[in-house]
Amino acid sequence: MSFRKIIVAPSILASDFARVGEEAASVTEAGADWIHCDVMDGHFVDNISFGPAFVEAVSRHTTIPLDVHLMVTRPDHYFPRFTKLAASITAHVEAAHDVADTLRKVRAAGCKAGLAVSPPTDIARIEPHLGEFDILLVMTVNPGFGGQPFLPDMIEKVRFAARLREERGLDFDIEVDGGITVETARVSIEAGANLLVAGTSVFRAADRAAEIKRLREA
Ligand code: DX5
Ligand code: ZN
Repeated sequence: MSFRKIIVAPSILASDFARVGEEAASVTEAGADWIHCDVMDGHFVDNISFGPAFVEAVSRHTTIPLDVHLMVTRPDHYFPRFTKLAASITAHVEAAHDVADTLRKVRAAGCKAGLAVSPPTDIARIEPHLGEFDILLVMTVNPGFGGQPFLPDMIEKVRFAARLREERGLDFDIEVDGGITVETARVSIEAGANLLVAGTSVFRAADRAAEIKRLREA
């Protein structure tokens, strides 16, 4: 397997929203590579988190790339509101949109395009889209809330995707999101993931810099 840089992306969903600027600055100082921003519309998932104004506030307090994860029913309608703020924008394969068209437009807007797969969804659904995305996000919890336990069965999806990537000579990062700790980061990396989203484990850590380092070296 080709070497890929390990990227640690703390999820701002687990931060103190009343002090979001300081929180974004804190994980930036602590050595985070990217900041993951979970946008939820209360329809695609059973939670409402934040939208573009909040992501814009985060952007004013960090210099590292923002990784926007759209848990919304109509990513095709909402993604343009994030293209100036984000380095990467990820939409779900289960959402109500023309997946190929959304991915193409995200790339055309100058962002990396991500495709996310929820736990109940067959990973084979990514196959028609190989070559259309830069990031494959394998959800390792059911989307909607932070602080849930990692679903170990999702590791098989990571392995499947890494195998496809290898066999077809493709180039995309594999992101895992949900319940990521040093232990679950290790099994995810072994299976082929290199992009680690970590909400609770980083924001609740007594020493955020040490936690980010431990995740990167997992
Ligand atoms: C869940 C979100 C995750 C969440 C991860 O719907 O997509 O990004 O913030 O939080 P932890 O790391 O606490 O599981
Ligand atoms: Zn997420």
